[in-house]
Amino acid sequence: MHKFINKIVYKHLKIILCMQKNTPELWDNLWKRTAKGEDTKNLQREELSIRWQRIEKIIKAKFGSFSNLNVIEIGAGSGTNSILFAKRGAKVTILDYSKKAIERSKEFFKRNNCQAEFILADALKLPEKLKGKYDISMSFGLAEHFTGKQRKDIIESHLSLLNKNGLAIISVPNKMNLPYRIHKFVMRTLGFWKFGEEYPYTRREFIRIGKLLNIKNIRFMGDSLINSFRFINPWLLIRRKLKIKPKIKKEKGTFLDSYLSYSLVFLAEKG
Ligand SMILES: C[S@@+](CC[C@H](N)C(=O)[O-])C[C@H]1O[C@@H](n2cnc3c(N)ncnc32)[C@H](O)[C@@H]1O
Repeated sequence: MHKFINKIVYKHLKIILCMQKNTPELWDNLWKRTAKGEDTKNLQREELSIRWQRIEKIIKAKFGSFSNLNVIEIGAGSGTNSILFAKRGAKVTILDYSKKAIERSKEFFKRNNCQAEFILADALKLPEKLKGKYDISMSFGLAEHFTGKQRKDIIESHLSLLNKNGLAIISVPNKMNLPYRIHKFVMRTLGFWKFGEEYPYTRREFIRIGKLLNIKNIRFMGDSLINSFRFINPWLLIRRKLKIKPKIKKEKGTFLDSYLSYSLVFLAEKG
């Protein structure tokens, strides 16, 4: 009985310790520990993902092409999506408050023969000179790391960067995606969760924030719902342990993606 109680207390202490705050130190440590080969794999995967295919379509419909578009990615990490924009002719700015992330993205851009401007800054305290300057402001895996009032503030930050005809693309985990919720619960319970505080969004939360910020044109899209089952597929874990390389295929989507997939992508137009 004594042992059992100890085990439970230990487990829950671990859960509490896993709830680290979103700080530059948290991300510095994470970027230090992530192997560089991961960036290349992520880039290959992202370029064939249905999320990217959908983003490409939206950009072409709104702006005609990527050429000379002024684009900023905030909380960019290694800047995977920014590289895809840069490769197609956009002028890219990378912003992150983790020094390690900025070092990492500089190196990653160089390896891919791409150019960008790199800015070390807090997305909630943006330098004034950046405001109103961009056709596109975007983030992938940033907004879910904020709580309380800051959840609105981080969306507002994206909008403040846009020019009159600008578009914000904000990709976050979707609260309605069950495989991700199970994965996160298991990882946190076992003490393996690395990303600190992370709270998925719902469409309803975005709509509420959109109203508060007076956004006129709100749209949603997703990534692949089918692919999100990777979170609970034990074969993938075994494959990783056995170092078997997966084949990366072009993803296909379904109409359910924008409701139930892992990524909920919020598109907001200014003006
Ligand atoms: C999950 S990672 C994003 C990964 C990225 N999308 C990629 O492709 O590599 C979140 C990033 O957001 C950054 N971040 C978190 N809060 C921030 C803030 N307030 N200002 C700027 N960057 C922030 C972290 O430093 C981290 O690099």
